[in-house]
Amino acid sequence: MRRPILAANWKMHKTKGEARAFVEAFLPLVADADSVDIVLAPPFPLLDCVGQALAGSAVALASQNVHPAEQGAFTGEVAAGMLADLGCRYAIVGHSERRALFGESDAFVASKATALLARDVLPIVCIGETLEERESDRTFDVLRTQLDGSLIAVPAERAADVVVAYEPVWAIGTGRTATPEIAQEAHAFVRARLRERFGEAGERIRIQYGGSVKPENVRVLMSQPDIDGALVGGASLEPESFSKIVHFEV
Ligand code: PGA
Repeated sequence: MRRPILAANWKMHKTKGEARAFVEAFLPLVADADSVDIVLAPPFPLLDCVGQALAGSAVALASQNVHPAEQGAFTGEVAAGMLADLGCRYAIVGHSERRALFGESDAFVASKATALLARDVLPIVCIGETLEERESDRTFDVLRTQLDGSLIAVPAERAADVVVAYEPVWAIGTGRTATPEIAQEAHAFVRARLRERFGEAGERIRIQYGGSVKPENVRVLMSQPDIDGALVGGASLEPESFSKIVHFEV
């Protein structure tokens, strides 16, 4: 009942030429993948060119960040309306790299999600515990705090427009994927919390897993009952690799 969503987070990678070459090679590889949502999140300067290359395809465009203000004196920042204007369907917010390297709080992430929904750009809200938090048995406290804080301003009638990405920080870029059991345990916790918060709409929120997802492990992860998709960094940079992830069922 929840449509799978596979998203490529390119982080700070690729030039215009490399991005165009990716899309040219990628689209034919995924032309038959009509039962999943496919999303590419390039860096800001590539949004326009990737959006144009994707025109007419079913692959959606996403940004990796947004500023909550509508406009104004925020040098270096990008507003939700600008993303909508460029054809972004989604935007990633609260990625652990933004939380850790740029000090983003749950309240700031929440204001970004609100700004995006107002422009009908669907937020992909990232949460996840560090290794230290996991080892000191604080995983569920951290997930609850991040989830509640980051979604605090989302009304129940917009809940199904949100995507949550559970990304254990210790699994990001490390090659150390969470086992399917560990991932499912966290996803089930998140699902229960979403149900408490939003009622029935919580069942419709898609929860992606992220952290060293690869063609070799995507299938077993996606077979877990509360894993509805993947947010993929390193393995999304090559068209063949990301297309295999998109085709997790075959
Ligand atoms: P990774 O990154 O797939 O390279 O681990 C995932 C992410 O940070 O979204």
